[in-house]
Amino acid sequence: MTDPAKILLDGQSIDLPVIIGTENEKGIDVTRLQATTGYLTLDPGYANTGACRSAITFIDGEKGILRYRGYDIAELCEKSTFMEVSYLLIHGALPSQEQFSRFKDRVLLHSLIHEDMKSFFNSYPGHAHPMAILSSMVCSLSVYHPELLKPNPNPKETSQTITRLLSKVRVLAAFAYKRSVGEAFVYTRPELDYVSNFLHMMFTTPMQDYEANETIRKALDVLFILHADHEQNCSTSTVRMVGSSKANLFASISAGVCALWGPLHGGANQSVIEMLEDIERDGCNYKKYIEKAKDKSDPFKLMGFGHRVYKSYDPRAVILKTYCDQILDQLGINDPILDIAKGLEEIALTDPYFIERKLYPNVDFYSGILYRAMGFPTNMFTVLFALGRLPGWIAHWKEMIEDPNTRIARPRQIYVGAPLRDYTPMNHRTDP
Ligand code: SDX
Repeated sequence: MTDPAKILLDGQSIDLPVIIGTENEKGIDVTRLQATTGYLTLDPGYANTGACRSAITFIDGEKGILRYRGYDIAELCEKSTFMEVSYLLIHGALPSQEQFSRFKDRVLLHSLIHEDMKSFFNSYPGHAHPMAILSSMVCSLSVYHPELLKPNPNPKETSQTITRLLSKVRVLAAFAYKRSVGEAFVYTRPELDYVSNFLHMMFTTPMQDYEANETIRKALDVLFILHADHEQNCSTSTVRMVGSSKANLFASISAGVCALWGPLHGGANQSVIEMLEDIERDGCNYKKYIEKAKDKSDPFKLMGFGHRVYKSYDPRAVILKTYCDQILDQLGINDPILDIAKGLEEIALTDPYFIERKLYPNVDFYSGILYRAMGFPTNMFTVLFALGRLPGWIAHWKEMIEDPNTRIARPRQIYVGAPLRDYTPMNHRTDP
């Protein structure tokens, strides 16, 4: 038993339990603080606040460690597949051959969306951002599965919803892309694996079947693994918060897609490429953009740099940087944007501003360069992040609804507004 934390409030010493995690992270349990002392804690952005206990992902920000259910991310990228990692995150253990075959078969079985939904896509203007389409289409899926919308689904119903989402979200993503380029929708093929089917739905046209080469297929599989989960990030916390009201999984994932879209989060992979293209157009004047990033009066940030948790190199960025060199070389692509990214990184990592603030490249700094090399348009990059993150979102939602201690997420606040005042009739009011 660990000694409690002691705080002195209004002359009274209060003991608060200390929680210690598997990897020796320590937390002070303030569950009873407000009830016993009337005091709240205040933590804008929740940088110091743990929202839950979770057994899904472990991150050590100082050491640059990322593990899914105890397995190191580098080993999973080398030896596993995105489908197997999805099973691992959702069910907590690597599957047997039999379990994995059943899992894959069920995902393949549910690869079709209701034909009615095709007309939804055609109602969007061609320039609609695919993240807007994806979030609304994921929620719209629930319309076709009313039997899965119960607030307390049983394990079988939860499993059915999970399989449908894992299978259909990539279809919605590919259809959103096809809508944006005015091409006919392409359906999955039973003989293709998860990632090959997605590439097929994206890039096959009536004129030509797309045959993913193994380099691209493996690279996209690794990219999805790298994005599959990241503990209580903004979008996963959103999924848990929405799900805590007993909203169904479709609605919770749709909310997660919206949270991911922001340029401070998953939208950064699109912003990074747009930033690098700006720098290229501006004569690769790296110093100018490093100075802009340091100038507090300038809203410009070095996109793809910095992280709330990693105060050393994001282990995913390490893997992606190596992959960029390998994949572009294997594909025979010489993308000047990669050189600009490396040049920018080199200067930033020697600049005291970035060193003092422990700002390193994060997962979004190099991922866009790979997506671009595979032929994805920039506005699809965050959709690809969402496809990778889907099993992580699902795993957290499932962990939350299965936890008997889960309560609706309802943070408090410190009120700093006007004190009590009387209503005055409009004709007695003067302009402030
Ligand atoms: C993802 O949480 C996750 O796990 C997310 C994610 C996942 O897998 O789910 O890892 C995916 O979202 C990665 C992050 C992608 N976003 C970006 O690349 C956008 C650029 N980065 C920043 O906006 C920022 O670093 C954040 C949003 C990532 C983190 O923000 P924090 O933790 O609130 O840090 P902060 O803004 O308080 O920064 C601390 C200091 C500030 O300077 P001072 O006030 O101390 O002088 O560092 C500066 C910031 O101005 N700073 C930057 C910077 N990031 C932080 N300055 C210039 N450029 C940057 N990119």
